[in-house]
Amino acid sequence: MDKKINEIISLFSEEIAKIVDIADVKNVKIAFFGKSGHLTELMKSLKDVSKEDKPRMGKLINDAKVGCEEQLKEKEEYFENLNKESKLQEEAIDISMPSKKKTRGTLHPLTKIKNEILDAFMCLGFKVTSGSEIQTDYNCFQALNIPKDHPARDMQDTFYIDENTVLRPHTSPDQIITMETEKPPIKILSPGRVYRSDDDATHSPMFHQIEGLVIDEEITLCDLKGILDEFAKKIFSPTTKTRFRPSHFPFTEPSVEVDVSCMMCEGKGCRLCKGTGWIEILGSGMVHRNVLINCGIDPDKYSGFAFGMGVERIAMIKYGIPDMRLLFE
Ligand code: PHE
Repeated sequence: MDKKINEIISLFSEEIAKIVDIADVKNVKIAFFGKSGHLTELMKSLKDVSKEDKPRMGKLINDAKVGCEEQLKEKEEYFENLNKESKLQEEAIDISMPSKKKTRGTLHPLTKIKNEILDAFMCLGFKVTSGSEIQTDYNCFQALNIPKDHPARDMQDTFYIDENTVLRPHTSPDQIITMETEKPPIKILSPGRVYRSDDDATHSPMFHQIEGLVIDEEITLCDLKGILDEFAKKIFSPTTKTRFRPSHFPFTEPSVEVDVSCMMCEGKGCRLCKGTGWIEILGSGMVHRNVLINCGIDPDKYSGFAFGMGVERIAMIKYGIPDMRLLFE
């Protein structure tokens, strides 16, 4: 029995020396401590030992068992730690590696242009107003010298909510409300969404306008020309030229349409300006006496000018966008 114990101990020492990984640890465990492992068998054989040898043998076997268990445990811990180490190394994060590119949102071209237009006028002393998109027929038409059944109503194919309520076809009603509630001098901008029953490459049922109004004593067409020329140079380029053509709006008299020299060909004539060298950017004029009277402003003391432009149109010209619908996609 002593011999057998020593044999098993030295076999165990041989086996444990050969261990190279955690799988070997498991195999040795099974070979010695499994159901029919060497040490398990040895314990079983203790029942055949004579009564007087039993205590000594029992102790020897037990010591061998505890010793082997300890060694196995040591090996097991060693390989487990080794595994942990290599796992940590494998999963290490390379902080010097360039990160994935993050895409950042930017302002929509319409928002950019709107801000640029507002800035251009605000540094000339204009203040910004805002008003409701649902308006009375009176504020949108009648106060602006466009009575019911006036043919000029065809210029703006308006969406009617009921007989006297519309989706505003321009932001001019904001100007009416300001003139009714504030005393001159008035110098305002009215930006916002407007609605017209129109839909093609250069028209949309909803688009954005910025209108402007100046009312004071002794305001003339010269002031209108000066301010709009300054504006065009700020928005397009310092070399941009402006041209003022006679036109007609019921709410202004005289009325003028403003063209700028084509920024693509610098006035020589190209596809963008349809060969003319000029591009129309806005409508304007001296506020009609009737509009001043409608708003309670004395037309013999005060005069003023107004202008209105489509933000999409300015963006299309500035960025060379051929189809307005692209701006909403
Ligand atoms: N309200 C006009 C429109 O929507 C633009 C405009 C404003 C024209 C002021 C002249 C003066 O078309």
